[in-house]
Amino acid sequence: MNTEIIKLDKDHIDADKLRLAAEILRNGGRVAFPTETVYGLGANALDENAVKGIFAAKGRPSDNPLIVHIAKKESLKELAVEIPPETWKVVDKFWPGPLTVVLKKSAAVPGVITAGLDTVAVRMPSHPVALELIRMAEVPVAAPSANTSGKPSPTRAKHVIEDLEGKIEMIVDGGAAKVGLESTVLDMSVYPPVILRPGWVTPRQLSEVLGEVRVDPAITGAGDKKAVPKSPGMKYTHYSPDADLIIVQGEVERVVDKIGQLAKEYMGKNIRVGIMATEQTKEQYRADCVISMGDRERPETIASGLFDTLRKFDEDRVELILAEAIDHDGIGLAVMNRMKKAAGNKVMVV
Ligand code: TXA
Ligand code: MG
Repeated sequence: MNTEIIKLDKDHIDADKLRLAAEILRNGGRVAFPTETVYGLGANALDENAVKGIFAAKGRPSDNPLIVHIAKKESLKELAVEIPPETWKVVDKFWPGPLTVVLKKSAAVPGVITAGLDTVAVRMPSHPVALELIRMAEVPVAAPSANTSGKPSPTRAKHVIEDLEGKIEMIVDGGAAKVGLESTVLDMSVYPPVILRPGWVTPRQLSEVLGEVRVDPAITGAGDKKAVPKSPGMKYTHYSPDADLIIVQGEVERVVDKIGQLAKEYMGKNIRVGIMATEQTKEQYRADCVISMGDRERPETIASGLFDTLRKFDEDRVELILAEAIDHDGIGLAVMNRMKKAAGNKVMVV
């Protein structure tokens, strides 16, 4: 299949170009588009065959449900039923933006989207290209992250092209995603609400609006080590670079020492080693490839650079990646959640 690639400036959207993308969606095709979190792979959420085409292009297991994207808050009423009143408080505060709410689904939502669950995940993105595209398509848009299943999520059009060119009808290039990590998924179908996937919107910000909010124990690592995450997607291997990844956690100086020592050891065995460092520490390492994820004092910079960094190591054919852990506070919870998944939970505490 020929994949058409179009480029749009998010501050001056060429409506004629974007209309081509909206037409494809309306006709049952697939379009990858930028959002503020990561790129999404969209199709008409009300068209079962179109939605099946998303699973096929990504190689996504059919038991992993999709998020439905809307362009105005009121559309939530068409997709969900028994909406608890606090839901409106939280969407008024964080929509449009990087928050997904899970609610009891309406009859309008096809079972392929929800993987047979009786709930549906809905989000209104803030990226102007995403919003305008959904508005023009005049249908809700189902969209997982636009990567091959299991790979790091795409934060640039180039990542989408690597994974999906030839498999979908169109890719809209709207520049780099600002947030860099997928949305916070909040289950509002239960009381108290539960965070199923940490993201840019933090537990504290949600508690300020909703009062008590729980975090799924499968994320915090509290309780049973084998706790099954309620968000089906969280159980899969995710975000995996081709290389093995080991996280080193502890006080920064000790982490730097340990990583330096491990790098030397593995390079001595002729293994190509990459180091995921931070602005504060990058000068202290010697390895085949050293990349700074961002600034430790500004974890949002690490969030936006994380997936891109993982893909760069693959490009560089690194065989082992040694990564510095960061603090689990605020956005750090989401960063460490993705990093641990990429590492298959290999964390070395020093
Ligand atoms: O930021 C984002 O959310 C991006 C952009 C494109 O909007 N999308 C995204 O989609 O990350 P995806 O498919 O990669 O992740 C969706 C997550 C999965 O972990 C899935 O299991 C969960 O949301 N999910 C979807 N529907 C659900 C439901 N009804 N109940 C619980 N979890 C659900
Ligand atoms: Mg994904």
